Amino acid sequence: MLTTLNEVLLPAKKGGYAVGLFNTIDTDMLQAVIEAAEELNSPVIIGTAEILLPYGELALIAPSVVDCAKRAKVPVVVHYDHGLTKERCREALSLGFSSVMFDGSLGEYEKNCADTREIVEYAHALGASVEGEIGHVGTSGKDSSADRYTTVEEAEDFLNATGVDALAVAVGTVHGIYRQKPCLDFERLSELNARLGVPLVIHGGSGLTDGDFRKLIACGAAKINIFTDLTLAGKAAMTEALKVGMDYMELRNYKVETIRKEVMKKIRLFGSAGKA
Ligand code: 13P
Repeated sequence: MLTTLNEVLLPAKKGGYAVGLFNTIDTDMLQAVIEAAEELNSPVIIGTAEILLPYGELALIAPSVVDCAKRAKVPVVVHYDHGLTKERCREALSLGFSSVMFDGSLGEYEKNCADTREIVEYAHALGASVEGEIGHVGTSGKDSSADRYTTVEEAEDFLNATGVDALAVAVGTVHGIYRQKPCLDFERLSELNARLGVPLVIHGGSGLTDGDFRKLIACGAAKINIFTDLTLAGKAAMTEALKVGMDYMELRNYKVETIRKEVMKKIRLFGSAGKA
């Protein structure tokens, strides 16, 4: 069933587990994520991020994701990840997304607050949920620095100013493949969790260790975003399939199956299995 962040993240925050957001750019990845969540009876968040649009047209994928979510046996949030412009966030909502992230974290603080507030008002009127970001979670090798970590004061102010349903925080993770061991600030995350009333979101989940995930969740992470690990699993499956001479259909199914297993691994680790 199609649902919003509040329906799946508030129980996660209370219950001490996290719900995975898995970004998908095509119906193969979509099938893998839905099947994994249904098999483990887990709530799930399916995303597609604005920066991924060159690889999967929004208007093409949106009807499939929304329809799949409605038909699913488990709660599914259809979330527009890292919306960079208000226009694109509104477009995603008009295509049936039940949730959006407005990401103004690279811009001026005041503008991030004002733009996020505007999207919150727009989305809430439609019954959709909104995630915002304060501090900045960078991209591996590009723009990750500790001076952009989220502070409690800024986060409290941002929540009061915007009314977002979930908050992405910067505590040392980065998007993409880690080039060096991440320096995760668990203490900061615990403090943010103790002081803020909303579910906290960790971006850049791919490449973290099982121990990192357990600790992040123990410190209050209620939503963890994954993309790169799914692409790596899919790529490895395709490489192997070509090596052993599978035909196109066999290769396609093998890829879906491999991504499905990767999603199941994450769902078990996040503790959301059986929570649908
Ligand atoms: P990874 O690609 O590093 O898993 O990050 C995903 C993400 O945070 C999407 O918002």
